[in-house]
Amino acid sequence: MTMKIKITLYLILTLIFNKGIFANPKIDSGAHIYKEVCAVCHASGVANAPKLGDHNSWKKLISEGQVIITAHGYVGVRAMPSRGGKQDLTVDQFAEALIYMVNKSGGNWVSPNKSMLDDINKEIINRKKSK
Ligand code: HEC
Repeated sequence: MTMKIKITLYLILTLIFNKGIFANPKIDSGAHIYKEVCAVCHASGVANAPKLGDHNSWKKLISEGQVIITAHGYVGVRAMPSRGGKQDLTVDQFAEALIYMVNKSGGNWVSPNKSMLDDINKEIINRKKSK
């Protein structure tokens, strides 16, 4: 391969690769929302909040499943304020921030599809009724 071709190839690959990373706004927004809203408690474990990266405290939550934990966190559980204390947070945004935390803490969750979002919303309504 000539130098020129190598350089061109490198530039093309860099372009494709970078686009791959930056074209995923959901991953970015999960991390962003975590930092803006959740980190204040979940980074250090304020009031026993399960800490980011602490596999042990997330293990049980993760095993309860994404629908339940997303819905209950959104409504609020004990010392966990509803919507992380940010009342204009949508279910989608809350879910993304939670996915970011879970996936840094031993889980492997993905963005909810339409049917999972429906289930989360149903569970939110149930949970609010029983509160
Ligand atoms: C003001 C502090 C605070 C903020 C901000 C906060 N949390 Fe929490 N969170 C807690 C505490 C404390 C707990 C533990 C509650 C308990 O078990 O008593 C918790 C627990 C949770 C749980 C587990 C709920 C369950 O079913 O046991 C989830 C999920 C969660 N938080 C998600 C989030 C997300 C996502 C954000 C940001 C959008 C967030 N939290 C912001 C304090 C906070």
